Amino acid sequence: ACSALVSTQAMAKSALEQIQDSGKLRVCFDAGYMPFEMKTKDGRFIGFDIDMGKQMARAMGVTFVPVNTAWDGIIPALQTGKCDIIMGGMTITPKRNMKVNFAHPYIVIGQTILIKPSLKGKIKSYKDLNNAKYTIASKLGTTGAQAAKRYIPKAKLQLFDTEADGVLQVANGKADAFVYDMPFNAIYASQHKKQVAFIEKPFTYEPLAWAVRQGDPDFLNFLNNFLRQTRGDGTYKRLYDHWFKS
Ligand code: ARG
Repeated sequence: ACSALVSTQAMAKSALEQIQDSGKLRVCFDAGYMPFEMKTKDGRFIGFDIDMGKQMARAMGVTFVPVNTAWDGIIPALQTGKCDIIMGGMTITPKRNMKVNFAHPYIVIGQTILIKPSLKGKIKSYKDLNNAKYTIASKLGTTGAQAAKRYIPKAKLQLFDTEADGVLQVANGKADAFVYDMPFNAIYASQHKKQVAFIEKPFTYEPLAWAVRQGDPDFLNFLNNFLRQTRGDGTYKRLYDHWFKS
């Protein structure tokens, strides 16, 4: 009985062992979330998370392997070992934190609102949207969807599988507002000045962090020290400025 237990434990490699043995860092993310992860026309993945992941793989001396995964399946993908880490702009929430471990936050954002240009002046905050006559779009399974339900309960809510589909509803006039993370909305608004208006003030507090499987403090220790190093040596700032200030 004892040897069976020992062998199961021996089989469950820590993430760092798995990464070292395979020579690969497999990173889960969900492309389409500007400027963290995007897919180029020729099929490459680019963005802030992608670049941080590449830096991490380089520091480990292994190959960066992108694992593009639909948002609603991203925690299961981590749990079942399809990737070693989620670097996907994931907000730390208590519910998620009961299933995965988070490293220290690498950025703090909040929910913001894009509205139809015709509502400019009428809608000044999320509170003005809390009316059954308004339709809000967001993305399924995100904190945007959660915030809309919690803070704007009277409005109708339509949830989409991708950011692109959700925000398009506002751009083409089918929805009144799109509730989503600050950086995404800021970039979308700057690219679609005529189709949407941007209410910039965030109405939630959301630390984003890398997620790993539970019960693996060694990997968390690595991640927190890697983050500290990139913050101190200018790597983080260089990548941040590249993706957030252009
Ligand atoms: N921060 C939000 C959340 O955690 C949205 C993240 C979406 N990320 C993505 N890679 N599509 O729910």
